[in-house]
Amino acid sequence: MKELIEKYDPITTYFPPLKAQQWHYKVHPYFTKQPGNVVAKYIEHYTRKGDIVLDPFCGSGVTAIEALRLGRKAIAVDLSPLATYITEQTCIGPIDVDEFQEAFNRLEKRVLPFIEKIRKASKEYIKEYKIKDWYPQGVSLPKNADCELVEDLFYRPQLIILAHILANIEKEEHKRYRELLKFAFSGILHRASKTYFKDSKDAGGGNSGIFTKFRYWVPKRPDKRDPWELFKIRFRIIRSAKNKWNDILGDRCIGKDLVVKTKSATQLSNYIEENSVDYIFTDPPYGAHIAYLDLSIMWHAWLKMRVTKKTFEDEIIEGGDYEHTIDHYKDLLTVSFLEMYKVLKLDKWLSLVYFHKDHKLWFTIIDAAKAAGFEYVNTVAQPLSKQTFHKIKNPLKVLGESLIVNFRKSRRVFPAIEREAVPAIKIIYNVAEREIYSKGGATSEDIMRAIVPELFEANLIDKVALTNMNDIFDLLVTEFDHGIDDRWHIKPEKMDKLGNYIPVKDRIKYYLISILRREKQLDLDKIVTIILPLLINGHEPTQKEILEILNEVAFSKDGSKWELKPGKPVVFQQELGFNNEVDYNVIPDLSAHNRTIYKLVMLGRRLRFYPYVGKMEYPEISEKLPKEVAILQGLPINNIDEVQRSRIEQIDCIWFFEGRIPEFAFEVEETTNFLTALERFYSLLERFPSIGTQRRLVIITPRSRKRKLTQELLKSSYAGHPMYMERKISYLYVEDLEAEYPKLVSDSEFSSNSIDRLLSPPETLEIR
Ligand SMILES: C[S@@+](CC[C@H](N)C(=O)[O-])C[C@H]1O[C@@H](n2cnc3c(N)ncnc32)[C@H](O)[C@@H]1O
Repeated sequence: MKELIEKYDPITTYFPPLKAQQWHYKVHPYFTKQPGNVVAKYIEHYTRKGDIVLDPFCGSGVTAIEALRLGRKAIAVDLSPLATYITEQTCIGPIDVDEFQEAFNRLEKRVLPFIEKIRKASKEYIKEYKIKDWYPQGVSLPKNADCELVEDLFYRPQLIILAHILANIEKEEHKRYRELLKFAFSGILHRASKTYFKDSKDAGGGNSGIFTKFRYWVPKRPDKRDPWELFKIRFRIIRSAKNKWNDILGDRCIGKDLVVKTKSATQLSNYIEENSVDYIFTDPPYGAHIAYLDLSIMWHAWLKMRVTKKTFEDEIIEGGDYEHTIDHYKDLLTVSFLEMYKVLKLDKWLSLVYFHKDHKLWFTIIDAAKAAGFEYVNTVAQPLSKQTFHKIKNPLKVLGESLIVNFRKSRRVFPAIEREAVPAIKIIYNVAEREIYSKGGATSEDIMRAIVPELFEANLIDKVALTNMNDIFDLLVTEFDHGIDDRWHIKPEKMDKLGNYIPVKDRIKYYLISILRREKQLDLDKIVTIILPLLINGHEPTQKEILEILNEVAFSKDGSKWELKPGKPVVFQQELGFNNEVDYNVIPDLSAHNRTIYKLVMLGRRLRFYPYVGKMEYPEISEKLPKEVAILQGLPINNIDEVQRSRIEQIDCIWFFEGRIPEFAFEVEETTNFLTALERFYSLLERFPSIGTQRRLVIITPRSRKRKLTQELLKSSYAGHPMYMERKISYLYVEDLEAEYPKLVSDSEFSSNSIDRLLSPPETLEIR
């Protein structure tokens, strides 16, 4: 039962990626590394200390590293031995760095005389020299490589030195340091090969064709690097990484907290217990452009790692030397979803990185995950690297970044929701306005990243891609202004049409910030003459009220010209509209039902939620509320069908966080039929499942009716499979609300938890 009450909302915003700053980023190269700080945010959000985090396509192990850093346990799976090797060697710790240094010194002593000799040797000597140390011979590279064999990738002096370093690493007696030295060796192979070239764009001054062209590409002028110099640099990088890792770990030891498996994700349940994993964060292989196993041949050969025909057959890619078809790719990915579903615990989350140019694959992924039983929750546009995208005009280019798709293993299969057909243009304008409003002016990046997931969800991404709508900025220009601050703003003439759920004080504040951002300095009279006409349709503020709000956001040096206060941009909805004092204890004359709703509105407001009041009650309650208390004038939920909308609209009171996300919903049972209340809650749950797992669907009832209601609930089809409403609703007794209301509104510690404490679950066992 405890698990059912666990409360998490999906992450809905992106995080600025900080790739190169991570201590583990440079230890060993791998394909499409994820930014660790972003992965960490997801792990922190969806798990607790001690939880098990799985990545079934772990690559270089970023998920495992971040999970371990955050005190979680990690299971890292990858088909590629190179990937699991990098993961293991990066995660291992703590390491005695002095001992590691000693092992390096021993190696240097052994190899340096020979290396010096080779460095000075004549061309003829090198040509004739018979290599005594082992190196991979006769290992074929993929068909699309510029060389035939692994050994051909190296200039002869490089090959001689590499073979000698490896042979001497093998002589190190201490296994842990031998492996770490080998890890350093592995980390230089691409640089010590003919695929390496000078690249001014790269911070390290060079790059390899393996990671830029994703094939064994030999440039016209390779940068011929000395393997021992490269090795020394790599050793220092690993030593300093291990120092940092030691600091992070403190007195912890990575032992059983990490399990690494070199196996296929299509068989997870063969080696991971079913229903045992708390969270999955993964970046699966995408489509055709990276054939991981083909590209790892050089490493597998040098490190003597065994890769069988079966391994290649199991690889989830399109193309490669095995010429896998797109159907092979989709089928195996689908199987891996089924397996992830099996090993994940109920009600837990799966976050999946989507990184593919072909947006159609997004639908394939969603369908495959749904077919496995997952509930699709949301998609976030998440950049992989820090780049501005001034020039990106087409929303599909956002896919040049990545999306993170969140799913949940729910206890029932969610039926496909018939969506209201909202035209793409409307979505674009709505989302843009929401972003502009909530951020006090939004950048193109903000808007684009918010639009893309919504277009996906409305199944309109294709349409937008194919029509002339693909230049979204051209559309924005007609409705919004692009200011000198490089942000979009609401056009002054359109301001009075700003979204209907924005409270008037917030609108004034928004207008003030927006105007001052644009004009830099303005005098009060001018400000008032601009603002007043914008508010014609609503409450007309006095000059004094405007001045009050102006004082919050701006300052004046000379008493006449005003400019914005310096500092962080204002976050609107969390901060604004709640500052003015209201007398919470004056309850107007209303029916008992509406008095309860009135109190709920006031409590919601006190908690800085945006209260919504049921359609029936709205006229009477909005009339009696003090004018400082803003309530939503419409349901701020998009993309729901009419039936659902009309049900949700009748819920007596809903508290929306940021005016968008329902946190609590209340039905006052005195007049409503109980089953109708459940039906309304159910519609809300379809769109916002977390409100149920938090048990914040609240029936307000006299204590005396509790038993009867629970009996009614248990007899209904809402109880048990598939809806389990008995696990999602709570009771709040009218008597408690009456008694607690005056205390709550005057309690300086009042929080959502104070409300949670008043709620009690239906005691179904007692009744059954
Ligand atoms: C996009 S990469 C993951 C990169 C990783 N996120 C990182 O930060 O390094 C996808 C991985 O899936 C692996 N892979 C492909 N087919 C697989 C399968 N059937 N089972 C497990 N892993 C597989 C590839 O070897 C590759 O390492």
